[in-house]
This record gives sequence, structure tokens and C-alpha cells, in this order.
Amino acid sequence: MIYYDESGKIFLLSGKNYSYAMFVNKYGFLQHLHYGSKISESDAVWLAGRIGKAYQPDCEGNNTDLDIDNMPSECGFAYRGDFREPTVVTERADGASMSRYLYASHKISEGVFEPSGLPHARRGDKTLYVTLRDGFSDTEIVLYYTVSDDSDVLVRGSVIKNAGKTALKLKKAFSFCTELFAADWKLLKLEGNWVAERSPEITDLGHGVTKIQSLRGASSHQMNPFAALLRDGADEFSGECYGFQLIYSGSWAITAERNNINQLRIQGGVNDFGFCWKLGAGESFHTPQAALCYSSEGMGKLSREYADFIRERIMPPAHAFSTRPIVVNNWEATYFDFNNEKLFAIIDESAKLGIDTFVLDDGWFGVRDSDRSGLGDWVVNEKKLKGGLKAVIDRCKSKGMKFGLWFEPEMISPDSDLYRAHPDYAICKKGTTPVYGRNQLCLDLTRKEVRDCVVEAVSKVLRENEISYVKWDYNRDLADMYSESLPADGMGEFTHRYMLGAYDLFERITSAFPNILFEGCAGGGRRFDAGMLYYFPQIWTSDNTDAVERTRIQYGTSYCYPLSAMSCHVSVCPNHQTGRTVSFDTRGAVASLGSTGYELDISKLSEQEKQKVKKQVEDYKKISDLVLSGDLYRLCDPFAGDRFCEMLVSKDKSKAYIAGVLTSYLPRRNSSHLRIYGLDENKTYKITETGECVSGKVLAAAGIPFRELREYESFVYHIEEVKKK
Ligand code: GLA
Repeated sequence: MIYYDESGKIFLLSGKNYSYAMFVNKYGFLQHLHYGSKISESDAVWLAGRIGKAYQPDCEGNNTDLDIDNMPSECGFAYRGDFREPTVVTERADGASMSRYLYASHKISEGVFEPSGLPHARRGDKTLYVTLRDGFSDTEIVLYYTVSDDSDVLVRGSVIKNAGKTALKLKKAFSFCTELFAADWKLLKLEGNWVAERSPEITDLGHGVTKIQSLRGASSHQMNPFAALLRDGADEFSGECYGFQLIYSGSWAITAERNNINQLRIQGGVNDFGFCWKLGAGESFHTPQAALCYSSEGMGKLSREYADFIRERIMPPAHAFSTRPIVVNNWEATYFDFNNEKLFAIIDESAKLGIDTFVLDDGWFGVRDSDRSGLGDWVVNEKKLKGGLKAVIDRCKSKGMKFGLWFEPEMISPDSDLYRAHPDYAICKKGTTPVYGRNQLCLDLTRKEVRDCVVEAVSKVLRENEISYVKWDYNRDLADMYSESLPADGMGEFTHRYMLGAYDLFERITSAFPNILFEGCAGGGRRFDAGMLYYFPQIWTSDNTDAVERTRIQYGTSYCYPLSAMSCHVSVCPNHQTGRTVSFDTRGAVASLGSTGYELDISKLSEQEKQKVKKQVEDYKKISDLVLSGDLYRLCDPFAGDRFCEMLVSKDKSKAYIAGVLTSYLPRRNSSHLRIYGLDENKTYKITETGECVSGKVLAAAGIPFRELREYESFVYHIEEVKKK
């Protein structure tokens, strides 16, 4: 719902449980009023008069002009009295950068705005567009806000236009800016590393600027493009929380600036380090979008809102809610060392156990027996695979299985035919030694001819073979930000242009093969973000397949992404990353909390283990609807203690699934009750595993004992409503 009060120039945007209000103050600034719980139209009018006036600058007279420094703003500006970090910075031909953006006009339209070449919210009810104009240059900024009655996510973005006659340099172009008033704010960020992605870290927000970012050309293992603000002691189950998530996969930044009267400006978008975009006369720049979310019921509710948003409005609609295949992937089973016999053995055994799809990972193309060569040569290596891909696909088909294939299309190995033919396709400044990552270079996707070459090479394989699943990998960060094809004064565009080029590849290839399920991957979770999920409805969550480590990685990832987005596999023990051994049951329990699969040599399992796989596959099929569309309740935080537990509940609360793991054994600590929040207190439920019938009320009020588990042991409960006769 969007309401506009003409006399006070007040905008009130409301979603399911939140409101967002702002007004045009007497000097023409778009001043922020409120973001939080739902308020009425008359409340917004009162706010404009009371709170609005209290923070309104006094621009009359010579000195008081600088009062703008405390004005809560929807768009920070540079060098004209707002001394906080600006949102947009332009530099004009005369070198001047000062600006003040004032309200010019607005309109309200049905539906969403689609930024060109960028992933975005696919649907929304209404969009407010507010045009601001700089009084000093000819820059125009259209801030837009998309609201939906059935969502607590507010989508924001902007279009920055050079409305003048001479070129401008756009030096910062963040996607959103908003302000929150004084409170005890905590910042939750998702930091990490390769094999340790997305660990929640909660810190106080001191005065000054706190910045989280990636400068790696990818959203990054190290920091996810997401921040949450927790107000006055808010936690998992209660209190006010705000989420800020970028729908973007390249270098990004989010800053939170607490000023000296404790107002908090939070904003983010494309990283401004080294960014400089030339805007010719009449040209526009579309920022990536940001998804803001409000919850008055803690982080748990915030995550459920984000999960719905991503499934319903970001993921490709044809795949978002359709049953995902249960895959077996040969990477940890064989690495590069495979042949027909080894693969056939995996396929034959997997088929017997009910697994749907065999995924052939790295090493099937060019000359690729290690990670030192072959990337770019997307032609099957028939020396390794007799009869080519067709032989493997035929084997899958004969066993009733489908076939998936690994690619790393954005990369090139210096030892490859592609490199020998087109060394200039690699990102590298002539005359310098480039930075290698995993022995490989990135392709210069800012160039159309390079993208065309990739599209053709990948499409040829997809056209000529029966492939139902693609794992699209990306195994290094971007460096040597330079393209021989850009002008000397255009290098500030390189990093964002790379990402636009990558999105162009994703769009062209995924739309040409709409029936293929594309899984994203980037050395595990280097690019786990809402931008990727627009094209790839699931992402390989981490190269760490240790079940205990995975409880933490998957828990952190669930703060802003749905479980169906996480690809989670059972692997062999001792685990290849950590050396840890945990039971097959525990590995299955943890891998069931996502789009599940196997990452081991099924043919080498014992008969007992094979029977466990069979049972896990059968059980997973019973809960796959919950993984696709259920609500997640995080019941025990593996970062906070010795246990992990998550529950998925169907929207009508008639069915639930719980999985828990004792992640470390602390004597006499593991007997306390597990309170089960999220079921309907007025319903009675049956727990299949124990046969008990129990009310939702007592499960929430008292809970069940967290079974006496030994270290790394797990349990699962399938829960069904007992219908009244
Ligand atoms: C990355 C992926 C792995 C695997 C290898 C292949 O590390 O995350 O799953 O595909 O590449 O080289």
C-alpha cells in the first residue's frame, strides 16, 4: 500500500507488518520519518509535523545551513552540509562534486521496476518513484520503493541520470540509504572464508562508520552482502530486527554510520572503491537493488520473510518450487581421476538406491587431469571418457537417471587451446604478470565477443547432449581489474561491467535452456547471494562437507536465504576437509536441510550404508515439500553452545520436520529441553519416530528433552498433525 498526503507531501509505504514514511520538508529535501512497525496515515501526518520538524534543518541564515548534518535523509549528498557518507557522488566537467538533491516529482505505478541487465525482484504490488534533482549539476536521481501487501520486504534501488549536456563522472552510486533513530543497535554480519562461509558475528555499533564489503569482484566467502540491525536486545525469537540485503554478486559495500546524536544511517550498493562510471549527456545508471526487511519477532521471522521473498520473487519461477533432483556428484568420489568404469559403478549403485541424477564434475573436458589446464576448452575428452558424454548419459538413462554436468565458463587456463588462440580474452594488463588463482585467469566478460564465445561453447554442449542439470562454478576472485577494451578513463567501470557481463551470460544461457536446473557454485559459497539466486535456484553452499561444520555454515546461510537454495551433500568419512568422522545418520540429517545429494563413491559403501542411503532418499522425498516451501525455525544455535537444531513447518502448520545434532559433548550440558516454537498451539501432533501424540502448546511451552546424545549424534523427527475426527 502506498499513501500520499498532498498537503504535507508525506509518503507512507506499508507492507504486511511494517511501514516506511518520509516527507518533503520545507526546503525540498526528502526527509526520512519512520521505518518499523505499521502506522496509520494519520500517524504519518503527525510524525511529519512532530518528528519531521524536530530534525528538519534550518536553512535560513548563513551558518544554520549546516544543520543538514542531522537530517535523516533518503539520499546522502556530498560537500553541501551533510557531513556523513554520501549515497551518490557525481563529478562534473569543472571538477566540482558538491550536490544537494531536492524533490522534483513523484509517481506511483503498479508492479516492479526492472533495472537493465541486473537481477531484480520479479514481482511486487506497487512502486513509488521519487525524482530528486541536484540544484548544482544536472543530475537527476529517481529513488524507487516497491511494496507488497503480503511481504515484509521493501525493494529499493535508483536510476541516476545525467540530465545535462556535458558528461559526468559517477563516483559513488549506492542503491539505498535509510536512517534509524537512537537505540542500542547491534550489527549482525555474515563473515567467513573458503570452507567456513557465513558465520554470524554480532557486534556493537560504535560511533563513526562501520563498513562491510567485498573488493573481490564476487560477493565473497569473506563477507556476505547482508547486514541485520538488532534493536535493544532483539534475538532469534523476539525484538525488532532490520535486514539489508543486496541483490548483487560483485564487489559491494554496506555502511552503517552512527553520528554523534546516535542516529544511524545505513546504506549500500556497488562498492565505490575505484568506481567511476562515465555518464554521457542523457545517460542513466541503474543501481543493483536492495531488499530491506523488517521483523518485530526477532531474526527468525526476518529469515522466514527473506526465504519467502527469495523463493517467490527472485528465483526463476519455473524452478523455485519444483522438486529438486537428489543428485550424486563424483567430485569427492574421484576428483580428476575417473574413467567410464568408475562413473558407471557410481551410476549403477546410485540408481538402485533411488538417486535421481548423476552429476559429472570437473575434469571431463579438454586436457584436465589437474587444476593446471583445460579451462575454456568445453569439448569432451574422449581419451578419458570413451564414447564421450553420450556414453555416460546413455548409462544414466538405461538406469532411469538424469545427467548433470559441471562447467566453469567464466575462466581460462593459460594451458588451454582457448588461451593459445585468444590470450587477450584473459583479464591481464599487457606487459604485466597477472595474478593467478587456482592456476587460472578470469575471462574478460566486459567484452561482448568473449561472452559470445562462452555462450556458444557452453550452449553447444547443452544442445548436443541430454543434460538436465548444470553446476556453474567460479573458482577464484577477480584481480587485475583492467580491460584492454576500455578507454584509459573507463577502468573505474571495470569491476561492475564484469558483473554485468556475467549476468548477461547467465541470462542468455539459462533462458535458452529453461528446463535445465542450474546450480551456482564458486569454490563453494563465494557467490551465495540473491543476485545469483535470480538465475540459479540453488547454490553449492560450501566446499566443506563435514556435517558438524555444515551445521554452522547452513545455519548462518539461513539468516537470509531459503533452505532450498542450499545444496547440501552427504560425503565420505573421514571427511576430506576436516578429517572428522561422524555417523552416516548425522551426515544424512544435516544434508536433509537443503537441496540434498551425495558426494561420495556410492559403489564403495558397505551394504548397510547403502541401505541407509536408500532410506534417506525415501525420507527426503517425504519432506522435500517442506524444504521447498516450508517455514524455518532455528531452534538451537550451533555457534552458541553444544547443539544444533532446525525445524521446517508447512505453511498450514500440519506437518513439520526437525533435525538436531550434538555438535560437541559438554558433560551434563546436553539434557535440557528443546522448546519447539513454530507449531500451532491449538493442534495435536504425532511424532512418527516416537509414536507420541502431543499438543503444539506443550511443545512450545515445555518442549521435549534433547535426547541424551553422544558427540556428533543426531536425531530427526517427522511430525504430522493429528486431525480431529
Ligand atoms: C570447486 C567446487 C567443487 C568442485 C571443484 C572442481 O571447488 O566448489 O565442488 O566442483 O571446484 O574443481
